[in-house]
Amino acid sequence: MLYFDNNATTRVDPLVLESMLPYLTEQYGNPSSGCRLGKLAANAIERAREQVAALLGCEPREIVFTSGGTESINAAIASALQLNPGRRHVITTAVEHSAMLKPCEALEKQGRTVTRLGVDAEGRLDMSEVEHKIKPETALVSVMAANNETGVLFPVQELASRAHERGVFFHTDAVQAAGKVPIRAAETGIAYMSVSSHKLHGPKGVGALFVNRRTAFHPLLLGGGQENGRRAGTQNVPGIVGFGKAAELALQNLEREATEVKALRDAFESGVLERIAGVQVNGNRTERLPNTTSLAFEGVEAESVLLLLERAQICASAGSACMSGSLQPSHVMRAMGFSNARARSTLRFSISRFNTAAEIEAALELLPGIIAKIRGT
Ligand SMILES: Cc1ncc(COP(=O)(O)O)c(C=O)c1O
Repeated sequence: MLYFDNNATTRVDPLVLESMLPYLTEQYGNPSSGCRLGKLAANAIERAREQVAALLGCEPREIVFTSGGTESINAAIASALQLNPGRRHVITTAVEHSAMLKPCEALEKQGRTVTRLGVDAEGRLDMSEVEHKIKPETALVSVMAANNETGVLFPVQELASRAHERGVFFHTDAVQAAGKVPIRAAETGIAYMSVSSHKLHGPKGVGALFVNRRTAFHPLLLGGGQENGRRAGTQNVPGIVGFGKAAELALQNLEREATEVKALRDAFESGVLERIAGVQVNGNRTERLPNTTSLAFEGVEAESVLLLLERAQICASAGSACMSGSLQPSHVMRAMGFSNARARSTLRFSISRFNTAAEIEAALELLPGIIAKIRGT
């Protein structure tokens, strides 16, 4: 299997699995219990907190473990609104993940207002627009660090300081950015930041919310006093340990992302552009994650290409999401002003450090034939 769908999820690094195994077998203590096994589990969580904090450039006490990116995002939104009961306005972008967009739709149904910032044809935000949209009733500005479909990066530090100066909470969904590009959360205006383990070769169902030590926080889940009273519920010890190890490895490999992984992505992208006519790259090619390429293949339906790729043992993904049985063109492509046809002809290839140059070459050998077959040329 040639796996080029690393923005959907990544394979667990063997070293991550190894780190988790003791906590799925003999080290089964509850981290909140005072017995020896409990203390071992609690220590393991604190070690993981240090590892995740190191990746995010913050202090361990600023990390709250959660069940993943979706929970972290929901917790950030809920906290900002709880702490600002009089403010009923949220600003986000039109190209966020559904983990942000769906809660925003729910807020609107509750009578709150949401401003969704648009992007240009290269998927970039108009920075001046953000400032104009902040109003006295704005409770939260939430902008993703990197887009999951195109890989386009947003200047979150700058946006965070503008929101912070205006006394508004700033959250960033850094689920796709963490482990791929350097992040320094400390000493920024970022109040909250969401990350997820399974996007960086850790296990699924675990993530973290960075809560700036200068920012108040109101928990989403109430119950026991775990996570310093910020997230109730017995912690997922093996998951958190694995996430910690994955974060440590991601930090060690960060340089490789900018060099080796980027070189693989670039070789794939330029190979496709050279060998296949009528292909466009979606999104700005400079301000972009090193591992992602979003390509529109004129005159084809991405779903048909995926089917043939699957038969050839190649895993990629369409730039469109399958919603309630009907194929909806991607909201990201639509926000960039592309036609439904271009959106539906888009495929995303996302690389990881586990891919090789030989795999890229193998995919480049197969893809032109597949596209030609579908185009009937
Ligand atoms: C940008 C972005 N945000 C949030 C999420 C959700 O994260 P999780 O799967 O950990 O809930 C994803 C995962 O697809 C994502 O790509």
